[in-house]
Amino acid sequence: MAEPFMAKSSSGLSGALRVPGDKSVSHRAVMLGALAIGETVIEGLLESADVIRTVQAMAALGARIERHADNTWHVTGCGVGGFSQPEGPVDFGNSGTGARLAAGLVATTPVKVIFTGDESLSKRPMKRITEPLRLFGAQIDTAPGGTLPMRIAGARDAVPVEYTLPVPSAQVKSAVLLAGLNAPGETSVIEPVACRDHTERMLKAFGADIREENTPEGKRITVRGQGELAACPVTVPGDPSSAAFPLAAALICPDSTVTVENVLLNPTRTGLIETLHDMGAEIRITNPRNSGGEIIGDLTVSTSALHGVTAPAARAPSMIDEYPVLAAVAAFARGVTRMEGLAELRVKECDRLAAMEEGLRACGVRVRTGEDWMEVEGSGGAPVPGGAVIATHMDHRIAMSFLVLGLAAREPVTVDDGAMIATSFPGFATLMQRLGARIAPAGETA
Ligand code: S3P
Repeated sequence: MAEPFMAKSSSGLSGALRVPGDKSVSHRAVMLGALAIGETVIEGLLESADVIRTVQAMAALGARIERHADNTWHVTGCGVGGFSQPEGPVDFGNSGTGARLAAGLVATTPVKVIFTGDESLSKRPMKRITEPLRLFGAQIDTAPGGTLPMRIAGARDAVPVEYTLPVPSAQVKSAVLLAGLNAPGETSVIEPVACRDHTERMLKAFGADIREENTPEGKRITVRGQGELAACPVTVPGDPSSAAFPLAAALICPDSTVTVENVLLNPTRTGLIETLHDMGAEIRITNPRNSGGEIIGDLTVSTSALHGVTAPAARAPSMIDEYPVLAAVAAFARGVTRMEGLAELRVKECDRLAAMEEGLRACGVRVRTGEDWMEVEGSGGAPVPGGAVIATHMDHRIAMSFLVLGLAAREPVTVDDGAMIATSFPGFATLMQRLGARIAPAGETA
């Protein structure tokens, strides 16, 4: 059942908060834990619908996974190549990351797995992973059009692979590296454009034989297969892609100052902060520290007079999930904000470029788009009209972005379904309310 949410004009947001754990790191911690020898203890795991699907998938493949009363998760792995045959199809819900990375894991293990997903995931392209995973010797059938449901019969005698990424996708890179873990010899991925590197960092922490070198074609990451991984404690930092929402709200709501603590600041994830700084945003990074091979820090942000900029295509992979909320913020800047290199937005949880265009127009914001770019004309700080009901197309980030926009709009903004927010940011509305934001299920807003 759809759960509409509404955001109303708000000001004076204040306070300090922590956002839930990083989604990318959480999926990977559960998966590597499921492969490793010994017990991996995970602190701060994102307990969202997407990650719970990964937990269930790894349990179906034979890992033992328990949540303890102190909120830690304990994963006892099966050893590389040690997965067992799941009893039925494995449902990945809304999660592209879960499905694609798990596909890599099973591609070189002699099990047969049927991957299913919800209506949104069932429309997303899988050819980007089936192509390289077949090179390992996996037999893969998909629905016509290369989508889920997908059946993978993992290779019994896998061969190693060398693969150059045709799209800048950390999911594809990770699927290949994870498949390489159970192939003999060395598997390499060449990454012409850098994208998030959590898989590489975590594989190192789990003791994988992995190395990186810079080549004229891009970074080459090589993993030596068929070695064991050793269980390793993981502390999951706050998700910068979730921190983006309170941060954006504080920028556009008058008289606000908000601190988001303990945020992952891996340089492959900080494109939004860079772009907002370019736009004149007052965002201070304090207390930078190292935790488990990742950089984390606290972000303090105050209401800022913003101006339009061009966010270049080269920056897209480091802020790929943040364009919807950037577009919402850009609606309040002085002048035009241009975003380039957005082709991948067309194949996210929905066609995000189309959803943003449609929603911004409905809220009275001028917007132009092309196949892979978008321009948003800002109001120069004045409230935008708002007063619309936004179609979220089963996309959590579209829902949250328009709720943030609604906080600084003249008339309330409603999103037709806020239920999907739980795929990445459980407790979003409550956390925002604590800062003073008027976001609530439609009909309940004060
Ligand atoms: C992710 C990679 C990105 C991102 C997604 C999480 C990951 O997708 O959009 O939310 O954890 O590897 P692509 O790799 O397809 O760009």
